[in-house]
Amino acid sequence: MKRLVSAGERLSAYAIKAAGAVIGLARTRLADAVRQRSSEVVRERSSEVVREREMLAAIVEQSSDAVIASTLDGIITAWNGGAERIYGYTAGEVIGKPITDLLPDGAGPGLRLALDRLAAGEQIQQDETIRVRRDGTTFVVSVIVSPIRDAAGVVVAAAATERDVTEHLQARERSARAARLESLGQLAGGVAHDFNNLLAIIMNYADFVAEEVTGEAADDLARIRDAADRARSLTGQLLLFAKREPTQVEVVDLNDVVVQGEELLSRTIGEDIRLVCRRCDRPVPVHANRGRLDQILLNLVINARDAMPTGGVVVAETDIAQLTDPPGHWARLTVSDTGTGMTAEVRDRLFEPFFTTKPADQGTGLGLATVYGIVGDAGGHIGVESELGIGTTFRILLPVAADEAARLDDDATGEPPRPGHGERVLVVEDDEQVRDLVVRLLDSHGYRTVPVDEDDLGPREPGRRSAPGHRRGAA
Ligand SMILES: Nc1ncnc2c1ncn2[C@@H]1O[C@H](COP(=O)(O)OP(=O)(O)O)[C@@H](O)[C@H]1O
Ligand SMILES: [Mg+2]
Repeated sequence: MKRLVSAGERLSAYAIKAAGAVIGLARTRLADAVRQRSSEVVRERSSEVVREREMLAAIVEQSSDAVIASTLDGIITAWNGGAERIYGYTAGEVIGKPITDLLPDGAGPGLRLALDRLAAGEQIQQDETIRVRRDGTTFVVSVIVSPIRDAAGVVVAAAATERDVTEHLQARERSARAARLESLGQLAGGVAHDFNNLLAIIMNYADFVAEEVTGEAADDLARIRDAADRARSLTGQLLLFAKREPTQVEVVDLNDVVVQGEELLSRTIGEDIRLVCRRCDRPVPVHANRGRLDQILLNLVINARDAMPTGGVVVAETDIAQLTDPPGHWARLTVSDTGTGMTAEVRDRLFEPFFTTKPADQGTGLGLATVYGIVGDAGGHIGVESELGIGTTFRILLPVAADEAARLDDDATGEPPRPGHGERVLVVEDDEQVRDLVVRLLDSHGYRTVPVDEDDLGPREPGRRSAPGHRRGAA
């Protein structure tokens, strides 16, 4: 029994052994298959990883933003195509160099602090910070710097993505400046408009009285009239700035403005200053009011004179420019001087009414405000470049009146207005004094007037509005 049992045990032990061998065999086969498959997978995965890496590298390389990596000591280790374009250095020129080469003087301590924060795992973001190009010029970037970790999670480097926002900032500044001037214009225009009405009353009644008095009283009246005249020229300039003054527009050749201006102006600007006028060899026609174009040139040349106390040259030039910004063909008037130039602060506020750097008796601060208003009104643009100690250039762009060019000489008969012959004129004006005045003037010029208070007319129909720029009062 014992043997049997032991034989049975042995048998079952054999069977178990045999089964174990089978299983063992199966295991090895399986293990082989798994190994093979997994090495295939690894191969596939690693080529996928390589592809992904290549793709990422291409994206980084071709990004228009600068992507720059550095060690935690601030030594540049990677430099993409965007960085090359923005900074002007090739990768070969900057890799291995300190990152302070890209920063303005004195930025060292700030950088040290930033690298410490990065080493501690912080991300750093700056919306507007200054960088230096290869040629030494500065520009503004928005930047995000992130810590780069190794497989063990230790921060080993820093990577920055930088975007050049200089143009964006300039555009924002331009539109803020334009908005500021626009609101100043509304304020100034409102005051000047009402003030002008009052002045018209003062001047005209002074004239009526002057017709009836003699002697000392007449002299006094003349003084009143003079003062009112001066006040009116000031409000007139303000209205020009505010674009509230309606005008007669005609086709004018800018060349004529410059050529005829030359005669008058060269006498005005003194002996130490040479005025050079260069006219374009073809017509430069614009749709504008001739008197206002003269005023633009006069203001710019007088300012140039004031900026050259020890003499110099002022050049006024016309041409037709084809530009991309603003796009199209433009009639261009350029006035440059070799004067003092101006600071950035002055440049910033130049066109504001009453902004002047001159003594009270020399500057009103209305010259460039007027120019700005006239140019804007004519659908144009004005730009200024100035360098302290070198000089200043004003550039005015006006839309070319191309289809009108041919008719340049035929326009403008220049006849004075004819007196009336008893025609009936409806005088609509809400200011009673102004209405009375207009009525009186029209009556004295042979018209029959029907005065109407504007407020009595009720709401106006949209189709019957007066033309833009045309002010109240039908005179
Ligand atoms: N050509 C120029 N060169 C230097 N500064 C100028 C020039 N033109 C204008 N400016 C500056 O702009 C300011 C404003 O000019 P403007 O509006 O004509 O007023 P005003 O001539 O009465 O001061 C001047 O006071 C001056 O500081
Ligand atoms: Mg001036």
